This record gives sequence, structure tokens and C-alpha cells, in this order.
Amino acid sequence: MTDLSQLEAELSARIDAAADTGALEAVRVAALGKSGQVSELLKSLGGLSPEARREQGPLINGLRDRITTRIAGRKATLEAVELDAQLAAGRLDLSLPPRPRRKGAVHPTMQVMDEMVAIFAEMGFAVAEGPDIEDDFHNFTALNFPPKHPAREMHDTFFLQAGAEGERKVLRTHTSPVQVRVMQKTNQKPAAPWIATGQDPPIRVIVPGRTYRSDSDATHTPMFHQVEGLVIDRAIHMGHLRWTLDAFIARYFETSAVETRFRPHHFPFTEPSAEMDVRCDRSGSEIRIGQGSDWMEIVGCGMVHPNVLRNCGLDPDEWQGFAFGFGVDRLGALKYGMPDLRDMFAADTRWLAHYGFSPFAMPNPATGLS
Ligand code: PHE
Repeated sequence: MTDLSQLEAELSARIDAAADTGALEAVRVAALGKSGQVSELLKSLGGLSPEARREQGPLINGLRDRITTRIAGRKATLEAVELDAQLAAGRLDLSLPPRPRRKGAVHPTMQVMDEMVAIFAEMGFAVAEGPDIEDDFHNFTALNFPPKHPAREMHDTFFLQAGAEGERKVLRTHTSPVQVRVMQKTNQKPAAPWIATGQDPPIRVIVPGRTYRSDSDATHTPMFHQVEGLVIDRAIHMGHLRWTLDAFIARYFETSAVETRFRPHHFPFTEPSAEMDVRCDRSGSEIRIGQGSDWMEIVGCGMVHPNVLRNCGLDPDEWQGFAFGFGVDRLGALKYGMPDLRDMFAADTRWLAHYGFSPFAMPNPATGLS
């Protein structure tokens, strides 16, 4: 027969001597685990006579309870000691300089888009959007590009592989296809909820978005951004167009001193057509606005061609209008002095840290204040 009091003394000594929670757990398993010493004793009760069991049972159960309590007590002590040690080791050194926190920034193009939307919204324009992947009809045909005409190549179009019906979709070369989507009333459901659907004139919308052409130099990038404008109403003329663009430029550059010039131009979808340039100085490492002998083209524009109105189901004898398409990245380069447009899309975080904007300090275009 095991000497219970000797076993208890032995186990108690081992519990008290356990130096950490790991060692204590080993003692617990040895005593109370499946085949621990105390557990084995409990199991052996089954083989005893009823009288012996009545005598031994309470003794062994009592031993088990006292050992369990002792282990729990020791465990609490050891855990407290271990926590203290951990806290002491992990103490913060408040004299250390902080690690630099890298903050995200708003890309200048997005900043300029926001400024443009705010200024045009004040003039009463709503925002419309269209898909980046366009069909030939919206990007060219409805906009009065004659079929097989070299003008289709003039945009250095990125064509997608032909689909099942042999149709080649394009990465839109301009935001003008959204003009068509806004004017044309069809029964077709748009492919996505944000894509503009036809509305009745009068129409006043701007269309911010990405555009694509196979082109790359200091003033061209294969992906760039435009803000299209479209006004359709009765008795709209070129004077309204010129005023709108000049009013926008003065607000955007926050000065009326920026010199612009209108040059006759050709677009298949406007007649007459023009391009507007801004005077700037590109001789140094930064572009400077309002001085110098260089001109930068920032917007193509004109009176919406009667064929475009007809293609969209509007009667040109009743409705006229003007349209324009701003190069957003160029407007940003001019305002914020970036010499090479390609840097804007090089994904260099140092560039973005320098030219980017804090999302919490957007200048309010209405007041010019942050
Ligand atoms: N879509 C033209 C371009 O990308 C710009 C433009 C828009 C011209 C609207 C006239 C009217 O070059």
C-alpha cells in the first residue's frame, strides 16, 4: 500500500520547488495526469473490497484535492513572477526618437480633378462617367469620325483583341464618348450603374476620367486624364464656350493674370473647333505659369457638330452646344510646377511625398484656403 502522507509530502515539495510554469505543469501531469501517481491510486479503488474502498476513498480524494489546490496556488505565484519579468524586459524607452511614420498622399492628378469638379459644380455642371473600355461606336463613329478615316489612327489607339462578333473594343482615346452616352437615349441598360445614361437637354455635365493613347514624351503619357465638358441648350454659341473656359482658368489658377490663346483647330466632332493654350515658361527645371514665351495646349473644344447631335437623336435646329476636353495632368503640371508628365505615373513614392497632397488639407477651390 502506498504511503499517502509520504506521497503528499513528496508531491508538495516538488510543487514548491517548480521554478516556472513549465516545470509545474510537469509535476501536475506526473501527479494528476491520465496515468499520474494520484490518478493511478484513484483507479485502484475499483479493485478494493467495499470496506477498504470506504476507508481509502476519502483519503485519496482528499489527497487529490489538496494537491490540486497547491498546484493552483503555485501556478498563480509563478505566473505573477513571469509577468513581472516580462514587463521589466519589455519596458518602453521613452527617450528613443520615434520611427518616422510614412503617410499616404493624394496624387496631384486626383487633387486637380477634385478642384476641377468643385469649380465646375459651382457653375452648375453635374458629373457623368463612362467606361474606360469603349466600343468603336461611342469612341469614334457617333463622334463623326468617318469609317476607315485616318482620324481614327490619329489618336494612336490601343485596340483590344477582337471579340466573338469580330468587334475590336478600344481603350478610350478621349472622354468624348461619354458625351454620346449622356445625350443618347437608348433602351439598353448600362453595363454598370455608374455609367451615364441619356438625358434630355438642357445638359451641363463634366466627365472626369482616364484616357489612353500610345504616346510617351515629356508632355504625353500612354495613360492620362481628361475632364470633358458638354453643354447642350438653345442658342448656345462660341462666346459661352470662351467665357466658361476663361472663367475656369481664372478660378483654377487663382489669378486672372494667366494668359490664354484660342487657336483654330480640327476635331471631327466639333465645328468650329479650337484649342486653347496657356502662356508658360518651360526653359527652367520647373514650368512657370503667367510668364515666358512658351505655350502649353491644355484643352480642345468647339461647338458640337450637328452630325453628333443627330447621331444622338437630337435635332440640331433645336439644340446646340459646346464641348471641351481638358488635359488634367497638364493642368496639374502647370499649377504645381512639374516639368515631366511621365514622373506622375512612375509610381515613385519619393515623388509622391514631394508633390502629393494631404487628404486633410485640401485647398478649398471656392476660397483658395486650406
Ligand atoms: N476629345 C478631344 C481630344 O481628346 C478634346 C475635345 C473635347 C475637343 C471636346 C473638342 C470637344 O483631343
